[in-house]
Amino acid sequence: MKNLRVGIIGVGNIGGAHAESIFSGRIRGMDLCGLCDAAPEKRQYLAGKYPGIPVFDDGLKLMDSGLVDTLIVATPHYFHPVYAAEALKRGLNVLSEKPAGVGVRAVKEVICAAEQSHGAYGIMFNQRTDPLFRKAKEIIDGGGLGEPKRLVWIITNWYRTQKYYDSGTWRATWNGEGGGVLLNQAPHNLDVWQWLFGMPDAVTAFVTEGKYHNIGVEDDATIYAEYGNGATAVFITTTGEAPGTNRLEISGSLGKIVIEKGVLSYTKLGVSERDFCFRDGSGSSLPPLEEFSFGPYEAVSGHELILANFAASVLEGERLIAPGIDGIRELSISNAAYLSSWTGRTVRLPLDESDVEAFEELLENKRQCERAGEGSGRGDAGSTAGNVCDKDISTGNNYLPRWNVKW
Ligand SMILES: NC(=O)c1ccc[n+]([C@@H]2O[C@H](COP(=O)([O-])OP(=O)(O)OC[C@H]3O[C@@H](n4cnc5c(N)ncnc54)[C@H](O)[C@@H]3O)[C@@H](O)[C@H]2O)c1
Repeated sequence: MKNLRVGIIGVGNIGGAHAESIFSGRIRGMDLCGLCDAAPEKRQYLAGKYPGIPVFDDGLKLMDSGLVDTLIVATPHYFHPVYAAEALKRGLNVLSEKPAGVGVRAVKEVICAAEQSHGAYGIMFNQRTDPLFRKAKEIIDGGGLGEPKRLVWIITNWYRTQKYYDSGTWRATWNGEGGGVLLNQAPHNLDVWQWLFGMPDAVTAFVTEGKYHNIGVEDDATIYAEYGNGATAVFITTTGEAPGTNRLEISGSLGKIVIEKGVLSYTKLGVSERDFCFRDGSGSSLPPLEEFSFGPYEAVSGHELILANFAASVLEGERLIAPGIDGIRELSISNAAYLSSWTGRTVRLPLDESDVEAFEELLENKRQCERAGEGSGRGDAGSTAGNVCDKDISTGNNYLPRWNVKW
């Protein structure tokens, strides 16, 4: 079978890393056949680095060139659903960077396009390939935790300094990025949360803008979520703590998983705690239990695994690790978290039309205030295209350590 003919829209940090992986032949089933970037200096650089690979200044021109059957969208967030929908309508395969979009409405349109398209739709949730998360998924899906009780994730090791936020004009702005840590770094964790524990029914959140940096979007968030069966989740994230923590704890009626410092500890109860609670005569003894430990594992190249899986899915029918339609799930949690924090109320999921409208209206207010120069802390806020890569483009591209799962 012929390899996928891949084009990349947005060849900055991560798009450049994908280009390098594919061009160098490391991704089975993918050939690099076209590139597109809005920034003229980037196009000039790409033409020199990848001789023979056509470079376009417009994503639609790349799609309509006939040179590609597959698109990787690695632009700033607002463009993800726009290009994904256009490509799917043309019957092309799309692998979108996370998040699937900024608001759920645009992503719903992509899902509609995907349902009517011959093209496949995937999303770069590379953290789903992490061996510890996969082990947790295996235990939970195998019934090893029983009835879900609680998830607590402290994921505060997404540390960024001001230089990071100043490195691109789209970064950390409502107009360029559409959000902060919840929309840029934490989507991976919000996705793994819902992938392992399911979607909550209600979200209450406290989201703080510019707490640790001169930025207008949030760099600190705490989400409390409720489930129909009484289970709860607490999710804490920030880019402003050093050292940060990455500790995931999931408990259920049959045991508990804790992932921290690269090791998964699984405590398996011999009987359901819910039964034990009402049968035990002592008042405070624990149910019988066994302890298991997994890891540490060797680091995997999650991005390359997702690329290869996407190709194998289209070409050979392999199951997609991260279907694009799953992108709306974590995005619904973050949209609800913003709305909850902005309005001071609990928001139910799935978001109903009135909450989608309320989210859009309040986001638009923030965008307008930012355009008017209020409250962002940065004068250059709001542009989405033409920004300069925060890596020295002359040094070439590869996956930056900051994108890996860190324990
Ligand atoms: N999966 C991951 O681990 C991971 C890691 C980093 C970034 N990302 C995501 O990838 C996306 C890009 O992030 P980045 O750090 O590479 O940003 P970046 O600023 O380095 O690159 C974005 C590129 O897109 C180009 N661009 C902007 N608008 C465009 C348009 N309309 N058409 C074509 N090109 C356009 C810019 O000129 C730039 O070269 C973001 O959505 C980000 O959240 C994902």
